Amino acid sequence: MKATAVAPANIAFIKYWGQKDKANFLPYNGSISMNLNNCLSRTTAEFTDDLAEDEVMIAFDTKEFKQLSPKDGDKSALIFSQINRIRQLAGIQQKVRMKSKNNFPSNCGIASSASGFAALTLALVKASGLAINSKKELSKLTRLAGSVSAMRSIDDGYTEAVLNANECFAEQIADENHWALVDIVAITSSDNKKVSSTAGHLVAETSPYWQERLAALPARLKACKKAILDKNLTILGELIEEDCLSMHKVIQSSLPPINYWNKGTKDVTAAVKQLRKEGLKAYFTIDAGPNVHVICYEADQVEIKKRLNSMGEVISTITNKPSKGAHLSPNHLF
Ligand code: PMV
Repeated sequence: MKATAVAPANIAFIKYWGQKDKANFLPYNGSISMNLNNCLSRTTAEFTDDLAEDEVMIAFDTKEFKQLSPKDGDKSALIFSQINRIRQLAGIQQKVRMKSKNNFPSNCGIASSASGFAALTLALVKASGLAINSKKELSKLTRLAGSVSAMRSIDDGYTEAVLNANECFAEQIADENHWALVDIVAITSSDNKKVSSTAGHLVAETSPYWQERLAALPARLKACKKAILDKNLTILGELIEEDCLSMHKVIQSSLPPINYWNKGTKDVTAAVKQLRKEGLKAYFTIDAGPNVHVICYEADQVEIKKRLNSMGEVISTITNKPSKGAHLSPNHLF
């Protein structure tokens, strides 16, 4: 059977960085995010007797589809392992034909691995006939692909990756209609980042600020969830900036140190603080890349976007509302 899935990227309000169990991709801490309706991955998969080898075509960084090999890097190896895992679980032998594309720049801090792995997992599950009966189980299987953030793209709206003893799965906090926040992504570079988040997670514990970050996370997670449920942007905004700066302090001081920021990243965060001084409610957060996510009310988005787009370092902006999570689509890529 041919199946197509669409999944959104998400922006982490409280971020995941570092893995306590690297073989099973178990994070040290829970994380919370909002799904993004304008940053989407679409994947079509079909298991077939026609192929001698898996055929995986992607159009992430380019408009043209190109064929992927397991040797193309760490993300490619993870994609082929997820194909093998699902084929084995479904008890089938056939090879897969798979095509996947994004409608936004990849590998630069807009969580393309989240949307990509969520869409790929749902498409492969449906195409293989594997019976998965809940979003919780689907989120666990998605995590095993190698991306904890991808788990949070499975359910709708605002979601949490919950860590429970030696298990980690995603749960919904509120659906996409709960609170009309906007995430304006200010693109300061769409170049591929030099160090993947997959590599960064492996050295998180080497930072001298690591323990300090871990100790602060339980209270921050609880407060963030409450701020979403209470629809309190002042509290949420302060928490997301605090968590973003704490994660990047760890990243920039790990061994080896990693820096995802460029000049535009710093200019945009300064501009966001200036907007606040002028009375507009805007807060920044940054994932593993140079681009800045500006969280604001729907009513302020036009004004804020105008300001961001007038900055020399901002190439373009993408405006997102909360989105539904991974879902099937009748529009196949082949
Ligand atoms: O799940 P990964 O390996 O794509 O890592 C995500 C890391 C951050 O985007 C920086 C934080 C997060 O929780 O999304």
